[in-house]
Amino acid sequence: MGAKRDPAELKIEAARVALGHVEPGMQLGLGTGSTAEAFVRLLGERVAEGLSVIGVPTSERTADLARSLHIPLTTLDDHPRLDLTIDGADELDDELRLIKGGGGALLREKIVATASERMIVVADASKRVKSLGAFPLPVEVVPFGLGATMRAIESVAGRLGLDGPLSVRQAADGRAFLTDGGHLIVDAAFGRIPDPEALSDSLLHIPGVVEHGLFIGIASAALIADADGVIHLAS
Ligand code: 5RP
Repeated sequence: MGAKRDPAELKIEAARVALGHVEPGMQLGLGTGSTAEAFVRLLGERVAEGLSVIGVPTSERTADLARSLHIPLTTLDDHPRLDLTIDGADELDDELRLIKGGGGALLREKIVATASERMIVVADASKRVKSLGAFPLPVEVVPFGLGATMRAIESVAGRLGLDGPLSVRQAADGRAFLTDGGHLIVDAAFGRIPDPEALSDSLLHIPGVVEHGLFIGIASAALIADADGVIHLAS
């Protein structure tokens, strides 16, 4: 077994392998978070060397980074179908079901990933789990009716045998965190989620819920880095 390595190095390792899946002329979805940013930085180096690609960023943060690296950007209006999205995850299981949204970008991330032919998840091995749910599930909600929406989330979760505190995510300045779309994030600490598909469907029936961080049937592969190398999981 290899020596223990810094998660930041492992993220770069996974991102480097993901870069090998990028071909000239591709239209790419660019994820959000530290692992996706490692990929965007490596992509920027290749673009500086002459690689021609175009990207759709999944957040303003990623857009700023990509612009600073002179990666050409576009929108899903101009390019509604993408070849490949590379993004991180907060958790993933062996069926390539994910929890995302730790960085608050889950809505754009899901829109971009589902507009892509393929989504490759890049992660260090700490993100790989047997069952989803140790990471609180981010649920993006509209500010109007917050109390009622939170009650409805508790109620649908309860019907699935899930229980656990809900909290409205705060920004560093102590105010409510607002997503790029102007919504709030409710972090639902349910613990282990035995049936992610049922929870996904139930949450999407709540009118105040815009999206949630369960990505099911979206990722096509994952590149997971640990001290021994990068494992490739495929659906
Ligand atoms: C952002 C996300 C990120 O992909 C997720 O939070 C993982 O981030 P990191 O690579 O920094 O661990 O879903 O909304």
